[in-house]
Amino acid sequence: MPASKNDLRLVDLDEEGVDKAFRADVLQGLSEAQKAIPARWLYDDAGSQLFEDITGLGEYYPTRAETEILASRGAEFAQAIGPGRAVVEFGSGSSVKTPLLLSQIDPAAYVPLDIAGDFLRASAEELGAKFPGLPVYPVEADFMRRVELPEAVADLPKLGFFPGSTIGNMVARTAVDLLRTMRETLGESAKLLIGMDLVKDPAVLVAAYDDACGVTAEFNRNLARRINRELAGTIPVDDLRHEARWIDDFARIEMHLVAQRDIAFEVAGRRFTMAAGESIHTENSHKFTRRSGNAILLAGGWTPVRRWLDGEQRFSLILAEASIPRSAP
Ligand code: AVI
Repeated sequence: MPASKNDLRLVDLDEEGVDKAFRADVLQGLSEAQKAIPARWLYDDAGSQLFEDITGLGEYYPTRAETEILASRGAEFAQAIGPGRAVVEFGSGSSVKTPLLLSQIDPAAYVPLDIAGDFLRASAEELGAKFPGLPVYPVEADFMRRVELPEAVADLPKLGFFPGSTIGNMVARTAVDLLRTMRETLGESAKLLIGMDLVKDPAVLVAAYDDACGVTAEFNRNLARRINRELAGTIPVDDLRHEARWIDDFARIEMHLVAQRDIAFEVAGRRFTMAAGESIHTENSHKFTRRSGNAILLAGGWTPVRRWLDGEQRFSLILAEASIPRSAP
């Protein structure tokens, strides 16, 4: 699950304290024919809190479904994964899912990776307190790039843990790049336990991303507020409506901010316009079938070996093994 990305250590700021990558992505994204801003910018402190709120909503089933699998299949995880692995979590562990896994598989160490240092240290400390005998080695890093793991776990076999279907927030090319990078980070005999949300009735999916209480709408609009706050923006946020669209061809939910009237605004000294009905595309959340999930894992250098679903078959957790590269069938 994404943590707040507001930690300054890995962020490149200009002399006015503005995150250069954020400004570049926003200015570029607002200049395109279909305006689009990368979803990672949804997670400032307010956005991270709103995402936490989303995970407790009735309509947002993925967190509950994945937790149900982790809570109910402990013996099977223990048998399929085996003891003595260093569990490397991509993104800092949530208070619920990670302990469920760690308590069942008898790991040798826990290595949470996250770009948000403060959040990382806090959650590592919390985990350490719950598992007093388990060595915990937090690493502050951007896991989209290859990460040098601590010397202390160098000789241990690794289990990568990437829950939440965060892989679904990436387009296929980025997802495959990340899976390959994970394989490099984890080494030859690694396994990977990855959450993938499943294709289902579009009405259920749209409701999960457009809840009746409007929390997801606030999460989406917060991006426009963040732009106004951090990039001297004048976006009329109240004139943007949240929309969740199911795009069947790409098996994904798209979040958009749709202009309710013709609007003009400035961001970082540049002027932009949106005609009524025009949108800013702010997030993709891809959904998988058994085959599409397997295909993306194989493309990323992982062979799927086990798959678990929740009781209502809404969400999957897949165990995969690092594949041996081969050039022939
Ligand atoms: C973090 N990620 C897996 C969430 C999802 O379901 O795609 C983000 C989210 N966006 C809107 N609601 C939740």
